[in-house]
Amino acid sequence: MHEPELAIGVDVGGTGIKAAIVDVKTGDLFGERIRVLTPMPSKPGVVVASAGRVVGRLVRAANSAAAAAGLPAPVIQAIGVGFPAPVINGVTKTAANVDPEWVGFDAQAAFTKAFKRRTWVVNDADAAGVAEMHFGAGHGKRGVVIVLTLGTGVGSGIFVDGRLVPNTELGHMEVSGRDAERRSSANARVRRGLSWKAWAEDLDEHLRAIDLLFSPSLIILGGGVSKKADRFVPFLKTPVPIVAAQLRNEAGIVGAAMVGLERETEMVREERDVAEHGRPLEPQPPALKVVPPVSTAEAG
Ligand code: BGC
Repeated sequence: MHEPELAIGVDVGGTGIKAAIVDVKTGDLFGERIRVLTPMPSKPGVVVASAGRVVGRLVRAANSAAAAAGLPAPVIQAIGVGFPAPVINGVTKTAANVDPEWVGFDAQAAFTKAFKRRTWVVNDADAAGVAEMHFGAGHGKRGVVIVLTLGTGVGSGIFVDGRLVPNTELGHMEVSGRDAERRSSANARVRRGLSWKAWAEDLDEHLRAIDLLFSPSLIILGGGVSKKADRFVPFLKTPVPIVAAQLRNEAGIVGAAMVGLERETEMVREERDVAEHGRPLEPQPPALKVVPPVSTAEAG
């Protein structure tokens, strides 16, 4: 059995906060997944405090499971949080599906304080995309691959030969004169009481607009609704290979843990370089580092 490499992934959404300890080597959850409802109104203080309680519960559960099995407490190497907004240097830039107080808020500092350890914050769809490209439907796919998460809103992760272009917001494209996610999110179907077919037609319009702008070789549809892909994917006519995400609703948690561990590892290396050599030896990595494609198979 391999030695697990553990990090906590927290996926903060407009509706729920989900978290688990993840074995970043395999993408498997280590122990239980916890989900609580996002407090309403979703102001930063209460959301961060709620995520703090969830993380506390996860760690206690993992420690007691280990103690019961006569094992040492598991070592958690990092924590990452996926959040439904573009995130630049830990600051959340917009608040489409959360309270407006998140605009310009230093989320990374707030989560770090609540979790009592250094935490990394990333856009939720970027996190889900990273996991899906590594362990799911995007595995080994080159070219331009677009991962869309269909949930409370619509999030996007664009990958070019496996490298993420961070903080894209394709959910907010204007399609037929409206903010696209108002029609193509999973919530929009329920809110508007649409059949799967009627909703698929709206989603298809969004996908066609994306195809016109980006000519992707593959579109991966994620979010909880991807479990029911057979209900709507057959109605999509956009001439691009379109598949359902394989990690389903867990991608956000797994990706947040992966990004958290990647950033933490870079930061630890940089701190060590500074301590030993007075400066970082490697150039600053880009905002979200490369997730290398694992094989050279063409997408689609
Ligand atoms: C937000 C994105 C987010 C997506 C999915 C959108 O409304 O603007 O940043 O990724 O919802 O949560």
